[in-house]
Amino acid sequence: MALLKKKVDAPGLPEVLPTHIGFIMDGNGRWAKKRGLPRGYGHVEGGKAFKRIMKYCKEIGIPYLSFYVFSTENWKRSEQEIQGILKLMTEYLDEVQSHLDEGIRYVAIGDISAFPDYISTRMQKLMDDTKDCDELTILFCCNYGGRHEITHAAREIAELAARGELSPEDITEDTVAQHLYTAEFPDVDLVIRPSGELRLSNFLIWQCAYAEYYFTNVLWPDFSTEDLDKALIDFAGRGRRFGGA
Ligand code: IPE
Ligand code: IPE
Ligand code: MG
Repeated sequence: MALLKKKVDAPGLPEVLPTHIGFIMDGNGRWAKKRGLPRGYGHVEGGKAFKRIMKYCKEIGIPYLSFYVFSTENWKRSEQEIQGILKLMTEYLDEVQSHLDEGIRYVAIGDISAFPDYISTRMQKLMDDTKDCDELTILFCCNYGGRHEITHAAREIAELAARGELSPEDITEDTVAQHLYTAEFPDVDLVIRPSGELRLSNFLIWQCAYAEYYFTNVLWPDFSTEDLDKALIDFAGRGRRFGGA
């Protein structure tokens, strides 16, 4: 499931592409700071980059994309910044909902119940309305943390065991995977993190166990389709062994 044959005849793109790309959309704040602007402007530009990259990935035929929108740790930010991000999320959800693309399924993963109702109900509606679309699946990691997700899965599994519905010796890696928010989706093949930070920051830690990583100093609002091409070319040259020889 890891690799996919290129869908379009795009010169410059490698023949094999990742099935699932995870984007850690980082560097919005620094983008704004460099221009002497408040951080919120960086998030606005980051939103534009998201739309540009999503559109391009759909054109070239990548079937699964995950975007790190808001982490379980991002609540540490100022109230003003959080409110600005929530406002952008609301505007975006309204925009997509009013122009639904038949091919795109949207799934929010993370504890969305922590968001104000006006956000969680919009997200739920978008998920419900697009659940049968299957050309491209977009996972929005919202109030998402990999440790939180694994803890949540452990709790569900423990409840089954406590009720006598599952024996501890029957718990396999597959059981854990089936209790993650991503149960029905493939693992991540390629993680792209712009902004020069060389870390995962709690992003899909289970699902990225065998992903390839691509880091660049470009800040997310500046991330272009050419930058994505570079990442895809780099990915195509990697030797993935998954522990084999
Ligand atoms: C990523 O950009 C967006 C979110 C975390 C919501 P940042 O806001 O982290 O940008 P920097 O890292 O401060 O530049
Ligand atoms: C990761 O970026 C979270 C998102 C992109 C939503 P952060 O900016 O929060 O990560 P750290 O703090 O640099 O690790
Ligand atoms: Mg950051």
